[in-house]
Amino acid sequence: MAKEPVRVLVTGAAGQIGYALVPMIARGVMLGPDQPVILHMLDIPPAAEALNGVKMELVDAAFPLLKGVVATTDVVEACTGVSIAVMVGGFPRKEGMERKDVMSKNVAIYKSQASALGSYAAANCKVLVVANPANTNALILKEFAPSISEKNITCLTRLDHNRALGQVSERLNVPVSDVKNVIIWGNHSSTQYPDVNHATVKTPAGEKPVRELVANDEWLHGEFITTVQQRGAAIIKARKLSSALSAASSACDHIRDWVLGTPEGCIERKHSLLIFSSVGTLQGTWVSMGVYSDGSYNVPAGLIYSFPVTCCNGVWTIVQGLPIDDLSRKKLDLTAEELTEEKALAYSCLS
Ligand code: NAD
Ligand code: LMR
Repeated sequence: MAKEPVRVLVTGAAGQIGYALVPMIARGVMLGPDQPVILHMLDIPPAAEALNGVKMELVDAAFPLLKGVVATTDVVEACTGVSIAVMVGGFPRKEGMERKDVMSKNVAIYKSQASALGSYAAANCKVLVVANPANTNALILKEFAPSISEKNITCLTRLDHNRALGQVSERLNVPVSDVKNVIIWGNHSSTQYPDVNHATVKTPAGEKPVRELVANDEWLHGEFITTVQQRGAAIIKARKLSSALSAASSACDHIRDWVLGTPEGCIERKHSLLIFSSVGTLQGTWVSMGVYSDGSYNVPAGLIYSFPVTCCNGVWTIVQGLPIDDLSRKKLDLTAEELTEEKALAYSCLS
């Protein structure tokens, strides 16, 4: 029997990420090839005509899974009945700007859209915040939408995770699909910590630690980390626009794994010892998501912080028990400090 369509909200849908993202959703990249969808697209009045143009193109593309399109500048209409909300709307960072520079504009948007989502979205709606500062926008959304469970509000660090996989794959000249279990800790900003201490590569002789295969600590501690941290800025410099196709694709990865599960995600839940704390032993696959901190790894509770997670039946769980060396500890703390400062700054912008 055919599945009922799922209503998916994309805010900022007339923008560049929106333009890359909505056809992916309509093709089943986000929720699977057998899941019909109804797209809800929100933008602001100056972008209404462009938004209507995107709607026309969606009709013209005749996507078999697309059962309807709501294109609107009315936030209540946009939020009504949605089960997935991808929050892309906002002001992007331009060349030379830090994420903090876009803070005051964007947190105000997230405060006002939080209440619309809380009141009109479907029960158990899953929210992914993409717009920067992504972690802090998500935190503001959580604080001002008390009816939405904190387990249902996340932000995008999967793009950084995928960037880290891409860098290892290029360095070792192996397919990116053979690399797994990198971790992005912390903020989606240049203080994030891309960590390969537990990452492995599939080889004919089994899974090997990335550290052993790269065998170059200077690169791993230096250029690898800074390349991933600075990749957003490098794309802006090259394109004069911020990343869009990779952001859209990673947003689909984030929601797909959250809803449909990470590989072995449910087996691990039953047999939690499947994840051992050192590489080279049998371990499942995790991904990085910005989620509400419960104090795991001594990260302050009450921040939206990127952790390694596995997902089963629509629920994410932070991977526990990974050993953290001294160098990593400092980096985890540094990015937590930045998030604590951002939180204070966000509140000062709202008062
Ligand atoms: P864009 O400027 O092309 O599009 C943003 C859209 O949001 C525009 O159409 C704008 O009209 C709309 N918008 C503005 N205020 C709105 C509101 N109140 N409600 C609904 N829509 C609104 O920008 P983009 O390149 O698509 O980037 C979108 C956001 O995503 C930016 O904040 C960018 O920095 C961020 N981003 C995050 C990641 C990540 O990995 N987390 C990656 C890339 C970009
Ligand atoms: C990215 O990581 O590409 C985006 O967050 C854009 C930016 O401002 O870096």
